[in-house]
Amino acid sequence: MKHLLSAADLDAATATEILDIAASMAAVSGREIKKLPTLRGRTVVNLFYEDSTRTRISFEAAAKRLSADVINFSAKGSSVAKGESLKDTAWTLQAMGADAVVIRHPASGAPHRLANWVEGSVLNAGDGTHEHPTQALLDAYTIRSRMGKIDGLQVAIVGDVLHSRVARSNVLLLTTLGAKVTLVGPPTLVPSELGEYSYDLDAVLPEADVVMMLRVQRERMTDSYFPSAREYSRRYGLDGARVRRMPDHAIVMHPGPMNRGMEITPEVADSPRSTIVEQVTNGVSVRMACLYLLLGGKHS
Ligand code: ASP
Ligand code: CP
Repeated sequence: MKHLLSAADLDAATATEILDIAASMAAVSGREIKKLPTLRGRTVVNLFYEDSTRTRISFEAAAKRLSADVINFSAKGSSVAKGESLKDTAWTLQAMGADAVVIRHPASGAPHRLANWVEGSVLNAGDGTHEHPTQALLDAYTIRSRMGKIDGLQVAIVGDVLHSRVARSNVLLLTTLGAKVTLVGPPTLVPSELGEYSYDLDAVLPEADVVMMLRVQRERMTDSYFPSAREYSRRYGLDGARVRRMPDHAIVMHPGPMNRGMEITPEVADSPRSTIVEQVTNGVSVRMACLYLLLGGKHS
């Protein structure tokens, strides 16, 4: 595998290999010296055209734990602000010898275009409303470590599915790994062509093993998709009363950043069923595994 552009590129065997490598990387992260020499002398560029906290920092931590040299590039403060194109930026990175480029971009498909212009590996760190494959991998890793398996689980992905690259990548990956995914939200925010769906959260919760809440992405909304924030929370927000409808073993996930009080209450976000902090921790191991697989060769 050269690039990681879409969760659709991952078959069950490859995805499972990444999760298994991530588990061994997690052991490294638990050591006092959290470093492996694997990518010494290799250069990883983080190319971020859109805001990020978790993804950017965890890719940086992942590359550093594998001893790669890391260059962080954010569009703000670069010559992108002077109008330089993605293609010219790509050539500049190429000229500096980037072995891997991690890209987040507001345009869906930008990582695919970049892959044609650079010789190194390209990793999609979120492109528009399209995909966020490493998020899906860290979510799959988190589900597997909490529930012991993914195959056969019922997963509800709830909220602003329309604008969510996290939802798209998770539908692809979790289905490949044998889960049954139901998308839940208001009709205006749940595209019916993505898979099974429901507009009734309360009806779905009692059957769910995993409830993945999505952020309401106001920055991507060009229209008004629901009457008011209060109405949205009343119908699709996850609060303590709704969590009590879930089976005892069921977990609550959220990719972050959260709108606390909108799609999830603080009581639920900070409860023992919530995996939100683990998701962030697991993100480092999973991104180490991806970089290792793309740049460092096969796992033995
Ligand atoms: N952080 C995730 C993303 O960039 C989810 C979100 O922003 O709501 O796609
Ligand atoms: N989950 C996620 O991608 O978070 P950031 O937008 O902070 O990177």
